[in-house]
Amino acid sequence: MFAVPRIEYGEKALESLKNDNFGRVLVFTDKNLRKLGYLEYLIPNLNAEKIEVFDEIEGEPDVRLALKCSEFARNFDPEVIIALGGGSVIDLAKFARIGMEVNVEPKEVKVKLNLRALGFKKKAKLIAVPTTSGSGADATLAVMLKEGNSKISAIHFEFIPDMTILDYRLVEKMPKRLVASTGIDALAHAIEAYLTKLHNELSDLFALRATELILSNLEKSYDGDLKARAIMHLSATMAGIAINNSQLGAVHALAHAFGTAFSVDHSLSIAVFLPKVLEAYIPDQRLEELSNRLGFRSSAEFVKRIEELIKNLPLPSKASELVKEDLPSKLEPLVDSAMKDLSFRFAPKALSREEVMEIFREAF
Ligand SMILES: [Fe+2]
Repeated sequence: MFAVPRIEYGEKALESLKNDNFGRVLVFTDKNLRKLGYLEYLIPNLNAEKIEVFDEIEGEPDVRLALKCSEFARNFDPEVIIALGGGSVIDLAKFARIGMEVNVEPKEVKVKLNLRALGFKKKAKLIAVPTTSGSGADATLAVMLKEGNSKISAIHFEFIPDMTILDYRLVEKMPKRLVASTGIDALAHAIEAYLTKLHNELSDLFALRATELILSNLEKSYDGDLKARAIMHLSATMAGIAINNSQLGAVHALAHAFGTAFSVDHSLSIAVFLPKVLEAYIPDQRLEELSNRLGFRSSAEFVKRIEELIKNLPLPSKASELVKEDLPSKLEPLVDSAMKDLSFRFAPKALSREEVMEIFREAF
């Protein structure tokens, strides 16, 4: 099985919606995007009976907000749900599409849950319109939510949007810090998808091409090159498709543990751990193969290029740039939580407890 949403992409990709007639349309977005006029790119293309906008989405999405979005959707009863925003908005819309029909706690939604038996009929079509280029949320079956002090992930094939629209105009004015941080997350997705134990011929295609494109376009996109920014937008979804079909690895496991423990943004945590974890994999045959296919003479040379990229953007390379807390008291629980993370088991090489501890020590 290889799951991919229908993808419309290009300069004015949102205009492809004009070819359809919709009934009731519910748009999820956030207040900031609304204020910046992003709805103007979308709404004029919709032939709809009724359009409702829910914009009360801010900060990190949590379980309470996911249930609120579901309730709003249940009351409005849409035929189409459109998520216009970054990964958080898309994740909440993905949950609401199921939550509007089935009364279920996010943590109960796992791949094998029989939603149809619970009455799910997939009444609403889900369209993702990403406004950042990194999360890959528009192509994946996972929904990440905060619950108390921890992160939970709800996972189901029914979360995968039916369609994703990559309209390049929406990322032209993206703040540079977001270009950098979401871009490094996309790069980590592409690399981890290539390295994971679950990689396959199809995911390799997307992972390898996305890695190549991101390596040669992220800095240019950061500097304002709009052609490079358009390529980054497409590449982020390609990397999302790759992880959706082959999973992640220890970079994400350590970044999840660190980000949750210190409330640090996902992408910034990734910037800190990407080169360090790859370095810990060396020697690894799969990493060597990827490095060679990308034109590097060795894995070490490839990791050096990533370190240089992180400096150029500029993104943090040390955890101490992000948190002022002391590491020792949190070291043991950090290692525990990284090694318990689902992604950890898919790493190309099983890192020992001592190795994971060493990466955290080095990061601080
Ligand atoms: Fe990520």
